Parts: sequence; C-alpha cells; structure tokens
Amino acid sequence: MKKLVVANLKMNLGLEAVQKYITTIKGQITNQLLVIICPSFPFLSLFKSAEYQLGSQNTFYKKDGNYTGEVSPSQLKSLGVKYIIVGHSERRLIFHETNKIINQKVAAVLKENLYPILCVGENKEQKLLHKTPVVIKEQLNEALKKIDQEMLNDVIIAYEPIWAIGTGLTPTPGEINSMGEFIKRVMSFEYNANNTRVLYGGSINQNNIKSIFSLENIDGVLIGGAAVNPDLFIETLNKIS
Ligand code: PGA
Repeated sequence: MKKLVVANLKMNLGLEAVQKYITTIKGQITNQLLVIICPSFPFLSLFKSAEYQLGSQNTFYKKDGNYTGEVSPSQLKSLGVKYIIVGHSERRLIFHETNKIINQKVAAVLKENLYPILCVGENKEQKLLHKTPVVIKEQLNEALKKIDQEMLNDVIIAYEPIWAIGTGLTPTPGEINSMGEFIKRVMSFEYNANNTRVLYGGSINQNNIKSIFSLENIDGVLIGGAAVNPDLFIETLNKIS
C-alpha cells in the first residue's frame, strides 16, 4: 500500500495563490505516494488532478439543512473529496469541538463512504506527565464510539502532538514509531481493525520528513506549514525518495 502525504493548507492562500499552487505542483508528484491536498473550502473544486486526491480540512455531521456556514460530507463528496480531516487540534481548541462532535463527524464521513483522518494528540503538560498513551486512547475511544465494525479500517489516524504543531519541535523518531505501534495495537485489540493507517503530523519539514516517513509503524505524514508554499512542498516531498 502506498504511503500517504496529507497537505493541510489551513486558512492560507487566496484565489491567485491557489492557481499558482496548482500549476506549480503539476507533474511534480510521484505516483509512489498517495498525496492528499486539503485546501480551504472555496477552492476545493479547482484542485482536480490524477496526481493527487482531494481532502477537506473539516465538515459538519448533518447531511443538509439550516446550518449556516457549514458544509456536509455529501456536499464535499460531490466535489470529489475523498478524505476529511476530523478533530484537528485547532478545531478542538479554537472552535471548541468536543469528542462527541468529533464522534458524530467520523460517523457522518464514513456514512458517505469517505475516509476520515482522525487527529489525536497530547498537549505539552500531558506529555510531561507521561500521560500520552492514556490521552490518545481516550480520544480514540470517544471518537470511535458506536462506529460500525466493518468501517473501522477506513478510519485513518493522525498522531499530532499539540506541542509539535507549528512549533518546529517534534518527538524523536523512536517516540513517533512507538505511538504508531500503540495506536495500531489499540485499533486491533479493541476494535478488531487490523489495517489501520497511522500518520504523523507536527512540524514536518525537509530535514525530518525522510526519517519519520520511513518508520515501520507510520504510514505517512500530515504536513501543515511546509505544504503552504508549493515550491517548498515539492522540495519536501522530494526528500522522501
Ligand atoms: P505543521 O502543522 O506541519 O505546521 O506543524 C501540522 C498540522 O497542523 O497538522
């Protein structure tokens, strides 16, 4: 199975910059990788290429109705979106998304036969108190409540320590690999999901991508800052091979 690279562009780039982004990455992505680009909602339909897949940074859990400002998984699907990031720490912290909301979103994404990329991660204090595994397990258990057994292998887990996002800090490769192994073990023992893909996200850059990407228990990476400039993004991808 191909390893994944998810580019989370967050709330960056306007129309012109997006158009430039698309032309810059054209023809630059090797088909040995499964690259998923997650632009802001308004630009989703501009990204159409056989070289990468389309992802969304967020969604709401209802199918349609009076939910001003929200976008549903089925609307995203109609634009060609296949992957949806759910529970990013910025959504949890800034927009007060609870585990219950995240659980509803995971269910709604799976219902449309799309792949949720479920983000989990500890904060600095929890790390210092050695609570990382407990925190991650609780986030998984809450987010996956009552999810259909046969859909669980479609849930991609992104391990993203909050203290590593946008800070230039990362856990050691050994710590990242252990968390990948831990998450796979929880998914297998508790949910009978034996094919879970686990990504790492948080300050991925040109210097660390290769060593993290090659870890045995890590199936890909989620890149924020290093994916926003298209030239840097391609340079970063080129470091993998
Ligand atoms: P970063 O963001 O690569 O800028 O740390 C990662 C993320 O927020 O998913």
